[in-house]
Amino acid sequence: MQITAKNEYESHIKRVIISEEEIKKAVKKAGKMLSEKYEGKPLLLVSILKGAFVFLADLSKEVSIPCEIGFMAAKSYFESTESSGQVQITMDLAQDISQYHVVIVEDIIDTGRTLAEIARILRGRKPLSLEILTLLDKPERRLIDLEADYTLFTIPDYFVIGYGLDYGEYYRNLPYIAEYE
Ligand code: IMP
Ligand code: MG
Repeated sequence: MQITAKNEYESHIKRVIISEEEIKKAVKKAGKMLSEKYEGKPLLLVSILKGAFVFLADLSKEVSIPCEIGFMAAKSYFESTESSGQVQITMDLAQDISQYHVVIVEDIIDTGRTLAEIARILRGRKPLSLEILTLLDKPERRLIDLEADYTLFTIPDYFVIGYGLDYGEYYRNLPYIAEYE
């Protein structure tokens, strides 16, 4: 589906849930927290494409210690009737992570299945440590017992768009987080 009409595009933005200012403040705080916690340690921020690209870009600018950045992409195949699924890594890190403290930077934790699998794969590579930092958490939807170490915003079960999050590949470039109508 392609959208080119601006009024059609805008008609699906129901209301802003988290403003640009609120995001900025929370991202700044998270960057400061990482800078203090990982000072003097080899830090690798790992973003899961595509949803976390905006968050990682802004967060990384608030990190004031040396750090490396890596990207991964994954495809999930989950049967609705099954509790366990399959995750295929479609793009992998270039780094050997065994010499790094790794922080996974995620856009949103929904059922938790994709991230649980990625965390399992990364733990298997024996990083010095592994933590999960997520911009958003929708705990009501969780199917897997998975907690982020750091959550910037906890939200109800809305479908949200903006700040990296999409509906049909659109709306990732909104500077705020909105509910999709
Ligand atoms: P799960 O936690 O394995 O169910 O999958 C989480 C992924 O689904 C996220 O990384 C997003 O890409 C996508 N997702 C979940 N909820 C939303 C939403 O409200 N808006 C946009 N994408 C979402
Ligand atoms: Mg994602």
